Amino acid sequence: MNSYTDEEFDSIVSPILEIEEFNRLKYITHHGITRFDHSMRVAYYSYKISKSLRLDYKEVTEAALLHDFFLDEVDSENRVGRLRHHPEYAVKNASKYVDLSEKQIDIIRTHMFPVTFTPPKYLESWIVDAVDDVAALYEKGYCMHRQLRTAMFLFMFLVVNFVKMR
Ligand SMILES: [Fe+2]
Ligand SMILES: [Fe+2]
Repeated sequence: MNSYTDEEFDSIVSPILEIEEFNRLKYITHHGITRFDHSMRVAYYSYKISKSLRLDYKEVTEAALLHDFFLDEVDSENRVGRLRHHPEYAVKNASKYVDLSEKQIDIIRTHMFPVTFTPPKYLESWIVDAVDDVAALYEKGYCMHRQLRTAMFLFMFLVVNFVKMR
């Protein structure tokens, strides 16, 4: 079902992975991958960190998985508007399916701090905010690396053909 081989992690995320609307994230591009894959990565590493710190890792993992649960709500907005407003849509969508705790709402709502101005209230929110940032950097870097490799391949292809034509 997913590439993270941890039974406990699987059991925490499984109920959310069964939500049909959540699965629509598999078809939305986000940092060069799918929003679903990005959410799984943030959930997994938030799970690992919060478990090692003996925090309520189930609560953290669920909120981390749901932190970018928005679909097309911000499509008509500019980049800044999208960055600032999507956490509220994620809270709204997640609330339809999961009885979110106050801490989970804070985790989702503040995961874009400092782009959104309200700072996280809980250590768990700071963790997900940081994991999300690192995941985004990694994914954007990976995407750029792939694009550079493709550009390099095309460039070499053109050079080889140019040389052959001479
Ligand atoms: Fe986000
Ligand atoms: Fe994110």
